[in-house]
Amino acid sequence: MKKIAVIGAGNVGKVLGLALSRQGYALVGTVTRRAETLHAAGELLQCPVYEEPHLASREAEIIFITTPDGIIAEVCQEIADNNGFLPGQVVVHCSGVHSSGILHAAREAGARVLSMHPLQTFPGTEAGLRGLPGTFFAVEGDPEAFPVAEKLVSALGGNVMSIPTEMKTLYHAAACIACNYLATLLDGALRLYQHMDVPGEQAMEALYPLISMTLENIKEVGPEKALTGPIARGDAATIQSHVAELGRSFPGLLPLYRTMGRETVRLALRKGTLDAERAEKIYQYLEGGFAENDGSLFHR
Ligand SMILES: NC(=O)c1ccc[n+]([C@@H]2O[C@H](COP(=O)([O-])OP(=O)(O)OC[C@H]3O[C@@H](n4cnc5c(N)ncnc54)[C@H](OP(=O)(O)O)[C@@H]3O)[C@@H](O)[C@H]2O)c1
Repeated sequence: MKKIAVIGAGNVGKVLGLALSRQGYALVGTVTRRAETLHAAGELLQCPVYEEPHLASREAEIIFITTPDGIIAEVCQEIADNNGFLPGQVVVHCSGVHSSGILHAAREAGARVLSMHPLQTFPGTEAGLRGLPGTFFAVEGDPEAFPVAEKLVSALGGNVMSIPTEMKTLYHAAACIACNYLATLLDGALRLYQHMDVPGEQAMEALYPLISMTLENIKEVGPEKALTGPIARGDAATIQSHVAELGRSFPGLLPLYRTMGRETVRLALRKGTLDAERAEKIYQYLEGGFAENDGSLFHR
């Protein structure tokens, strides 16, 4: 199966379309919502453009519905209502949170359905293409279509990772923590540096060796062994001073600092470098020095 259509040529649709066409797949059509993006997508992907999804899907053997998550089911239903699916086709979406079940309208029309989520970030076309090699794709759906998924992922230079359908939401929550929340966390550190009038670029340059070494260590030995710093050392007074100073000069970051601090206490307890007594003290400082530990600290 080599003929593909991309319904929703946004960040992911364009990257998959381009990468697959470079590997010998034939792009037989694409669709976007707006006329101007449709024209640009046609130029980039060098393929026919359609205003109506069912006209593109009829031409293809494999159909990617890469619209925003909230309208995948609706677009799939619209194609089915217009007889845009044919028996034997494979219909794929790339959402991390939804299962292949939301493509039931395609399955009822005789197509096989898959979800194939790239565990990668696609902020734009060039960066997306650079990030593809080695990316894991979480695949779930009709077993008869798995060989198609394996061929697609291999053509994209990626690896297949099988996810039970009922675990997809948790799988996606983990990806969200690892990617999006990491961005939010680092934004917090950068905002503090900006508050001290360190220029944005310099702040990033200064923090980056620390960030990348931490990531390397986590990859090498895991989060427990990679954890360093005042909580891992049991240095409660340092945490007390952080909480007090943040409260004075940057209170907006205190909730994040406290939540991450509590989780870091748990990690340090698991690591074994922090004893229960110091953990209790740090916990109280994180709470502002008043709260009693309700015991939840020592649970998962
Ligand atoms: N971006 C990521 O980092 C990432 C990572 C992993 C998985 N994903 C998944 O990939 C999928 C696509 O995400 P994305 O980030 O590529 O989204 P996106 O950049 O917002 O692109 C969505 C595309 O869908 C088009 N579209 C919207 N409504 C449509 C409709 N009714 N009919 C046809 N096309 C329509 C949009 O057209 P216009 O351009 O005209 O608005 C746009 O081209 C989602 O399921 C997402 O969860 C994304």
